[in-house]
Amino acid sequence: MNRRTTVGIHDLSFASAEFVLTHATLAAHNGARLAKYHTGIGQQAMSVPAADEDVVTLAATAAQPVVQRHGTDRIRTVLFATESSIDQSKSAGVYVHSLLELPAATRVVELKQACYAATAGLQLALALVTRDPGQQVLVIGSDISRYPLDSPGEATQGAAAVALLVAADPALLRIEHPSGLYTADIMDFWRPNYLSTALVNGQESISAYLQALEGTWNDYTKHGGRPLGDFAAICYHQPFTTMAHKAHRHLLRHCGHQSEHPATTALTCTTAYNTQLGNSYTASMYLALAGLLDHADDLTGQPVGLMSYGSGSVAEFFAGTVVPGYRRHLRRTAHRTVVDRRQALTYARYRDLHETQLPTDGGDHPLPPQTTGPFRLAALTGHKRIYTPR
Ligand code: CAA
Repeated sequence: MNRRTTVGIHDLSFASAEFVLTHATLAAHNGARLAKYHTGIGQQAMSVPAADEDVVTLAATAAQPVVQRHGTDRIRTVLFATESSIDQSKSAGVYVHSLLELPAATRVVELKQACYAATAGLQLALALVTRDPGQQVLVIGSDISRYPLDSPGEATQGAAAVALLVAADPALLRIEHPSGLYTADIMDFWRPNYLSTALVNGQESISAYLQALEGTWNDYTKHGGRPLGDFAAICYHQPFTTMAHKAHRHLLRHCGHQSEHPATTALTCTTAYNTQLGNSYTASMYLALAGLLDHADDLTGQPVGLMSYGSGSVAEFFAGTVVPGYRRHLRRTAHRTVVDRRQALTYARYRDLHETQLPTDGGDHPLPPQTTGPFRLAALTGHKRIYTPR
C-alpha cells in the first residue's frame, strides 16, 4: 500500500431536486405497509425533479459552491458521470462548464457505467492530479433514478448530484492505493436508449451487487489492501439504504468476521442523506461519504472503505484516510438545506411529473418555471436545450 499518497477529495458538495415524495404518500396510494419502505428498504422519501430540472441543472447546482469556494483557475478537467444522459453526443459537462463560467482551457467529458461511473471519474482525476499536482479536477456524478409507475422499483427512485474537487494535499480524504476491481457481463439493471425508465431484475440485481462486492474485495486483498478490521467506516453504494446493511453483513461473513465490527455502527451515518433523497445512482456512494463525514464523531486519521457498484456490472473497492482538520471544510448546513428545502408532492402531482415527457418535435418550447434552484432548463428549441441561471 502506498502510504505517501497525497491526492484525494478536497471538497464535496451535493444538490438535489425541487420536490420530494414521501414513502408514506406512496404507501397510501399503493396499499404497501409503510414498514416495508421504512424498515424493509430503509427509505423515508425520494427526490423528484421539477419539469425544468435535469442532470445538468442538478450538477451545476452541486458544483457551484465548490467553484465559489476554490475559484476556477486550477480546474483543467471536468468529468461528468451519469446514466441519465441527455444527449448521445455532447457531454452534459459542457453545459455545466458554461453555466459555471469555467475557463475555455478545460477538457470536459461524460463517463458512463451505471452507478459506478463517478468512481471511474475519481480514479482518472487522481491520475491527472498525480501527474500534475498543480491541477484540480471537478468530478460530478448526477442522476435521476426513474422506474415505471406501480413497479417494485418505484419505491427506489430519487435524484441528486455530487461535485467532488480532486486535488493534491486534499482537505477531506486522501485516497489510497490499491483498488479492488471487478467486472461481469450481467443483465441485472439496464436502460436501452429508447426507454426513459430503467429495466431491472430486482432480486438478481441484489445478488449481482453482493457477488461484485466479493469479487472486488478479493481483488483488493490480493493487491495488498487493508484488512477489514482497519476500517472505521465503509461507504457502500446505496440503491436503497438497507442494501448497505445487506452488503456489510455479506462482507463480514465473507471475511469470516465473527465479532462486532466498528464500521457497523457508522453505517447509520452513511445512510443519513440517502434515506431522504433516494437512489441517485452515480452520486449515491458519495452521498454516503458526505453523510458519514457530516454526522460521525471525529474521524481524523481513520481509514474509510468505499464500495462502488454499477449494474451491468463494474465494482471497485478502495480506501481513503480522513485528513486532520477536515471538519472545518464540511458543508453540513448547506447539505441539510438541500434535504429540507424540497417541496412535498401529492401522489397525483408526482404521477403527473413522472408522466411528463419533454417534446421531441424540434419546435420552440419554453418550459414553465418550477424550480427554485440556481439554474433551470428554460426551453427546448430546434432540438437544443437552453439552460439559464434563474
Ligand atoms: N416490514 C418490514 N420489512 C418488510 C415488510 C414489512 N411489512 N414487508 C417487506 N419487508 C422487507 C422484505 O423482507 C425485504 O427485505 P429483505 O430483502 O431483507 O428480505 C424488503 O422489505 C423488500 O421487500 P421485497 O423484496 O418484497 O420488495 P420488492 O419485491 O417490492 O422489491 C426491490 C424490492 C427488489 C429492491 C425493488 O424495489 C427493486 O427492484 N428496486 C430497483 C433495483 C435495485 O435497487 N437493486 C439493488 C441492487 S442493483 C444496484 O445497486 C444498482 C442501482 O443503483 C439500481
